[in-house]
Amino acid sequence: MLNNTVFITGASRGIGLSIAQAFASEGHFVIGTSRSKFDLESALGTEDCLHMILDVTDRTAIKEAHDTLKENNHLPGIIINNAGITKDQLFLRMKDEDWDDVINTNLSSVFNITKAFIKSMVKQREGRVINISSVAGLMGNPGQVNYSSSKAAIGGFTKSLAKELASRNITVNSIAPGFISSDMTDALTDDQKSEILNQIPMQKFGDPKNIAELAVFLASEKGQYITGQTISVDGGLYMI
Ligand SMILES: NC(=O)c1ccc[n+]([C@@H]2O[C@H](COP(=O)([O-])OP(=O)(O)OC[C@H]3O[C@@H](n4cnc5c(N)ncnc54)[C@H](OP(=O)(O)O)[C@@H]3O)[C@@H](O)[C@H]2O)c1
Repeated sequence: MLNNTVFITGASRGIGLSIAQAFASEGHFVIGTSRSKFDLESALGTEDCLHMILDVTDRTAIKEAHDTLKENNHLPGIIINNAGITKDQLFLRMKDEDWDDVINTNLSSVFNITKAFIKSMVKQREGRVINISSVAGLMGNPGQVNYSSSKAAIGGFTKSLAKELASRNITVNSIAPGFISSDMTDALTDDQKSEILNQIPMQKFGDPKNIAELAVFLASEKGQYITGQTISVDGGLYMI
């Protein structure tokens, strides 16, 4: 690719950090964001990176981040919309703010970030947008009406934008992780873990690297003819 700068939201831990590490090891310049302070240089072991404190729900801050990157010649050729949260609750007890927070952080953020950075890709007639979705958006999950809705909508965003931008040589895809070893899975009890593992044909949780390696592939020349897809990485949990 001409422009190998990658912009990754939520890059301070979990899947986002693993994606940042994978792109750094392939020689990309990595811009990683999170709301909290984070030493990305130490985490990646390279100076070819930049951490930005940025809330993906804050459009004014995103515009400022865009302008700063433009001034420094660091506008990305690859966007990874990874930042996401859960606020699980059965629907009858779900508060309005649990719905709003999850939709804003997981879905509107994808619009906010992509809208801010897509113009320069269109100008370059080259680029990649990769959204991190979830198996919950494909198969539903009790207690996750807000989260499943946000992730399912990313599928529609991905297909429509892929159709709009295909002629500009920009691909738009989503990755739908299943259960990936993370802070979230660490917090599960042994009983909960074995109940989940029984539903996964491969009988194990995934590793963040399984997501990161697919993201690197989709962003590479090898992924140039794949667009509009949501690709599951879930040990066989959800099969179409
Ligand atoms: N882990 C799984 O098993 C799994 C399964 C399916 C899908 N996913 C999806 O994969 C993505 C990453 O999940 P994860 O488990 O790695 O999450 P995580 O460990 O909780 O990390 C989330 C990252 O997003 C950042 N973040 C959260 N809210 C933000 C906001 N408003 N603005 C900017 N950054 C924000 C966090 O940093 P700060 O808190 O400092 O902002 C952090 O860097 C999410 O979209 C999630 O839905 C995960």
